[in-house]
Amino acid sequence: MTSPNGHRVAFPPDFLWGAATAAYQIEGGATEGGRTPSIWDTFSRTAGKVKGGDTGDVACDHFHRSADDVKLMAGLGLKSYRFSLSWPRIQPDGRGPANEVGLDFYRRLVDDLLAHGIEPWVTLYHWDLPQALEDAGGWPVRDTAARFAEYAQIAHRALGDRVRHWTTLNEPWCSAFLGYGSGVHAPGRSDGADALRAAHHLMLGHGLAVQAMRADQPDHDLGITVNLYAISPQTDSPADADAARRIDGLANRIFLDPVLRGQYPADVVEDVREVTDFGHVRDGDLEIISTPLSVLGINYYSRYVLSAPDGEPAEPYWRAPSNWPGSETVRFGDRGLPVTDMNWEIDAPGLVEVLERVHREYPAIPIYITENGSAFVDEVVDGQVDDPERVAFFDAHLRACSDAIEAGVPLRGYFAWSLMDNFEWAWGYSKRFGMVYVDYDTQVRIPKTSARWYAEVIRQNGLGG
Ligand code: NOJ
Repeated sequence: MTSPNGHRVAFPPDFLWGAATAAYQIEGGATEGGRTPSIWDTFSRTAGKVKGGDTGDVACDHFHRSADDVKLMAGLGLKSYRFSLSWPRIQPDGRGPANEVGLDFYRRLVDDLLAHGIEPWVTLYHWDLPQALEDAGGWPVRDTAARFAEYAQIAHRALGDRVRHWTTLNEPWCSAFLGYGSGVHAPGRSDGADALRAAHHLMLGHGLAVQAMRADQPDHDLGITVNLYAISPQTDSPADADAARRIDGLANRIFLDPVLRGQYPADVVEDVREVTDFGHVRDGDLEIISTPLSVLGINYYSRYVLSAPDGEPAEPYWRAPSNWPGSETVRFGDRGLPVTDMNWEIDAPGLVEVLERVHREYPAIPIYITENGSAFVDEVVDGQVDDPERVAFFDAHLRACSDAIEAGVPLRGYFAWSLMDNFEWAWGYSKRFGMVYVDYDTQVRIPKTSARWYAEVIRQNGLGG
C-alpha cells in the first residue's frame, strides 16, 4: 500500500507500534461482574449531557468480546495495546477491598494479549471515577488522591506480574478542566477553583500511585499521559502573544511543570490568582507530584491559535470558566487548515513542535505518543470502509514523529487512537476515531483501509515511498 505523502521513512528497530482504547469507551457490561456506576454512567444518563442520549452501557461490548478483539489486534500485527482499567469494576466503592471478578476480566485480557505476543500497556485512570467518590467530593477533595493511590496499588499488585507498562492518568487536563471547569465532561461541575483543586489532586494521586507501584516493582515503566497542544498567537501583537502564553500555561505547562520540574508555573499562578490562592497545596506535595518517571506519554491532536479580543490583553479565562474553550475572553482561532470531523485542524508539524519543545525545555525522558488520531465520517459500502483521510492523517503524523526522532527526541513508540470506533464522550457514538469500524447494532467489526495500511506500516517498521 503506498504512502500518501512521499518518501520512505524507517523507524528505529525497537519502536513500539500500538493502538489505544479506554474502558468506558469500549467495554459496556456496565452493571456486570460487580461493577458500580462511574461518573460517566451518571453523566451520560443525565438528559442533555451526551449527544443523542448515548451511554457506555453496551459500547463496543468489548467486555464480552475481548477474545475476538485480541485476535483482531493480532491480525493487525500490533506490538502493544494500550487500554484502561475501569476503577469501579475493580474497586466498586472506590475504597476498600478489590472485586476479584472485575480483576479477572483484566487478567484474562492480559493473558490473551501476551499469548498473542502483544505487550499490554495499562492506563489506570481514563476518566471513570467511581460515583461513590464523586459523592464524597470528587477530585477537588484531597482524599480522592489517596483513594487513587490505593486503587493503583491493588491493580498493580494484581496485574504487575504480567504488565510492565503503567500509566497513572490519561489527560488530567480533561478530568480537571472539562469535568470541573467547563462541565462538558463528567461530573459536569463548573467552578474554576474546583477545577484547579482537581488538577492538583489528580497530580498528587499520580505521584502517590507512582511511589506505591515503584516500591513494589522498581523496574516497571511508570508514567503519565498528558494532552499537549501546539500553541500559536493569531498575530504577532503583544496581546495575542499574551493570550497564547496564558493558554499554553493552562493547557500544557500546568501539568508538565509540576510533574517534571516539581513546581507550578509562576505566570499561571498569577493568572488564576483571583480564583485561588493555591491554599490546597501542602508542603511536600510537589515533591510527591514530581516523583521521577520512566516514561512520558503525550496525546496529540491539534493546535490552539489564540488571540485577545480587540487587541486588549486577555482576561483570565476564569471569569468565564464554563466557556473555555471558546471563551469570551481569550479567542480561539484557526489557520484555515483542513479539519477533521471534530472540527480540529490537521496540523502534523505541530506534533514536531510539541515533541521538540518537551525535549528542549524539560528534563530528558523517554516519550511515547500514547494517542494520535482523527474522526471522519465513515461509510460502509459493499461491506468495506475506505477512509483515505484517516490514512493521510496517520501518514502525516508518523512522518512528524520520524522528523522528531531525527532531531534527537527520544520518541520510543506510537499508539493510534483508536483501535476501533467507540463512545466519544460528550459526542456519544456520533464521532468515529477507529481504524476498525464498529456497527453498533450488530457489533460487527470491519477493519477500515486505515487498519490495513497501519498493519503494513508495522510490518515494514516504516512508511513506504
Ligand atoms: C483523548 C482521550 O484520551 C480519548 O478518550 C478521546 O476519545 C480522544 N482524545 C479523542 O477525542
